Amino acid sequence: MRHLAYLNKFFWKYRWRFLLGIVFVGLANWFRVWQPKVIRDALDTVISQVKHYQETGGIAAHPEAYRELGGQIAWFGAGVIALALAMGLFMFFMRQTIIVMSRLIEYDMRKEIFAHYETLDLAFFKRNSTGDLMSRISEDVSKVRMFLGPTILYGLDLIFLFVLTISSMLRVNLTLTLWSLLPLPFLSISIYWVSTMINRRSEKIQQQLAALTSTAQEVYSGIRVVKSYAQEEAMGRHFAEQSEVFRQKSLGLIRVDAFFFPLMLLMVGASTIITVYVGGLQAVKGNITAGNIAEFVIYINMLTWPVTAIGWIASLTQQAAASQKRINEFINTQPQIVSPDVPASDERYRGHIVFDNVTFVYPDTGIKALDKVSFEVMPGEKLAIIGRTGSGKTTIADLLVRMYDVTEGRILLDGVDLREHDLYRLRRHIGYVPQDMFLFSDTVQGNIAFGKDGLTRAEAEFFAKSAAVHDDIMGLPKGYETLVGERGVTLSGGQKQRISIARAFAKKPDIVLLDDCLSAVDTNTESQILGYLDQALADKTAIIITHRIYGMLQFDKIIVLHDHKIAEAGTHESLLAAGGYYAELFEKQSAGDMVGK
Ligand SMILES: Nc1ncnc2c1ncn2[C@@H]1O[C@H](COP(=O)(O)OP(=O)(O)O)[C@@H](O)[C@H]1O
Ligand SMILES: [Mg+2]
Repeated sequence: MRHLAYLNKFFWKYRWRFLLGIVFVGLANWFRVWQPKVIRDALDTVISQVKHYQETGGIAAHPEAYRELGGQIAWFGAGVIALALAMGLFMFFMRQTIIVMSRLIEYDMRKEIFAHYETLDLAFFKRNSTGDLMSRISEDVSKVRMFLGPTILYGLDLIFLFVLTISSMLRVNLTLTLWSLLPLPFLSISIYWVSTMINRRSEKIQQQLAALTSTAQEVYSGIRVVKSYAQEEAMGRHFAEQSEVFRQKSLGLIRVDAFFFPLMLLMVGASTIITVYVGGLQAVKGNITAGNIAEFVIYINMLTWPVTAIGWIASLTQQAAASQKRINEFINTQPQIVSPDVPASDERYRGHIVFDNVTFVYPDTGIKALDKVSFEVMPGEKLAIIGRTGSGKTTIADLLVRMYDVTEGRILLDGVDLREHDLYRLRRHIGYVPQDMFLFSDTVQGNIAFGKDGLTRAEAEFFAKSAAVHDDIMGLPKGYETLVGERGVTLSGGQKQRISIARAFAKKPDIVLLDDCLSAVDTNTESQILGYLDQALADKTAIIITHRIYGMLQFDKIIVLHDHKIAEAGTHESLLAAGGYYAELFEKQSAGDMVGK
């Protein structure tokens, strides 16, 4: 329950709506408990009138009897209908206030969680699966919404109905009240018990469904492998097994479910019988009228639903508390990488970068990805970082845009520690193309303009040409308006890489950072892109990470990373002369190129 305290601020925000809702619930119930009283009066009137006729010569002696009684009953009937209408009206209003409040809070919460996710660092997203993030923002918020809406509504409804009904009952007769309420606690307890069982089983079913879905998903994603290994049948069997487990579990739930309704009817029946029996005895004694018995039977029936709802409310509240706890875990996670307390600015960078004895250890795995790495890039210089897979190249790029902070040492940009730069200024001015580039489900134009509002078509085309992808784009069905990403056309790896590069160029960055993003383009295209860097961006600092040696561009500096350390550094000529790893790699690749030709 303590976890749900998080919701207090939302209750406060919508306090007037909520208070109004409570008033409406009260009014709806007030009109509801009037009905049995009217029916009691109707019955008592009819009984006493009939008795009166019988005592004064029988019905035959009173030709006006039918008209008279009929008129009276019609009035009572009209009363019941009027009360039902009033109750219905206020029930409509209470839903309009409380259920609407729950929807508004749901919306606020989703927005808040989404905004919070966006402040968290890359490490958080690596630690938690996308599925987990999604389920907290969708399913868990929905469960809390169920608590805020229906659960609170029926909870309030229950309290009002109980107080009003039981006080009306007590006003009639204490003994009859106690006797007729006797079975209700058992009903409540058994329903709580059954609904907990139902919940537990539904949760298992949910898990099984998730397993089933992910099996299917995996087969679809890996359909090429499944088909080429002719494993369709084996996968089908695997899926059928999972389905069978799902079927068994679902049937288990239905068995419990089937138990639920008869149990409820049994308890209500017991209450009614007791009421009629004890009520009859009391009526004989003259303590109550026959109309009171009818009144009580209606009260009991009115109480059945709320008593059933107690168990339901308790278990929904528990579920909501569990969901809120999961949400709170994320809401209370604080980002490690935050912008320092410096005035926001949008000033350009000269692009002087210094890595000063930088060591970096991945916090989760403890892998030392960089070990005392030092180098310097002057403004406008072009640096290449070469090394085998796993040597720490991507880590250098991630550190530069502060996806992580260094473990030891420091990184200086224009002479100031990276951690003292306004984070948004830093990221806005670095054109980073990550190794695992990503295109959104948007048009090509939208993807290039990402991060640069109001980019015109002409500008987009200019940057696409610089990234040597314009011709490819013109070849797409709708050119720049073609949808790409998950829902759009399938692009080749090289096309995606070049669109990502165009996106980075469109930012008009001060520093260009390309992480292995020319791996899927041919040598010609590569030299075109590097040529743009060399000419149009001659005064911009650029760091190009690669495992392939580029012959075209004269890099000012080349760093060779090996085993998380800098193994060699220098220019193309000096490294070749040194005859180390670089020279060896160059020789191998040149030989490869020869074979290729
Ligand atoms: N998110 C991560 N969490 C933990 N370890 C990582 C992570 N990313 C990379 N590593 C490890 O850090 C080392 C350097 O990785 P990386 O910088 O990606 O190398 P490269 O880009 O040169 O292939 C590798 O040993 C890799 O396994
Ligand atoms: Mg890498």
